[in-house]
Amino acid sequence: MKAEIILEEEYKATGTKLFLASIEHNHIQHLIKLAQDLSLIDLLGWNTVFEINEVEKFIAAISSYALPYCRKSQPLILGVYLETEDFPIGYVVLKGFNMDLLAAEVGVVILDPRYRKKGYGRLVLRRIVRYAFDELQLKKIGSSILLSNKTSINMCKKVGFVVTEILYKSWQMPKGDLVDMVLMELTR
Ligand SMILES: CC(C)(COP(=O)(O)OP(=O)(O)OC[C@H]1O[C@@H](n2cnc3c(N)ncnc32)[C@H](O)[C@@H]1OP(=O)(O)O)[C@@H](O)C(=O)NCCC(=O)NCCS
Repeated sequence: MKAEIILEEEYKATGTKLFLASIEHNHIQHLIKLAQDLSLIDLLGWNTVFEINEVEKFIAAISSYALPYCRKSQPLILGVYLETEDFPIGYVVLKGFNMDLLAAEVGVVILDPRYRKKGYGRLVLRRIVRYAFDELQLKKIGSSILLSNKTSINMCKKVGFVVTEILYKSWQMPKGDLVDMVLMELTR
């Protein structure tokens, strides 16, 4: 693993180290494989199924944002690595940086189902928020989540995010139906 380790954290339950690090090309392909899971579409609201060589398209998909104050900018995409695994189990992305407002949108996805519901998502979100506030000097981090995605909403709440708006029937799913979207925010 690990092109460049940016952030390191310990998973307290087992003492396992978790890293957020820049992702190499073949590791993104590993994430693409993990994302070829139709059940993710209903949780994320976009078509997560890409061919293994569609790395640029996959990056564009995970970098897209929905919050109104977000702006076109270079996203920061980090792989979520465990010291016990050679490949990333998921990713975290800061995107849509608005440097006038010092704001950005965050997305966390634990793609490897073996590692969901163990507390890693929350740990990753906590760490990236700390990085965004302390190192990048951001003042506001938002997240846009489908109202039906309770796990993700709960994860954000546990890290301190509050719901600022619910946009009913605002998000178009890949099959064309409109669903409700929750906007959440954490300010420094
Ligand atoms: C949503 C997501 C990022 C959350 O990450 P995660 O690591 O699974 O989340 P956590 O483990 O931190 O918390 C999830 C739940 O597991 C529970 N949990 C955490 N550690 C646990 C443990 N050791 N034993 C049992 N349950 C545990 C939490 O209490 C939480 O429960 P809740 O949903 O009832 O509040 C991840 O599940 C995921 O990527 N899912 C698929 C796609 C998705 O929805 N992504 C987010 C899009 S915005």
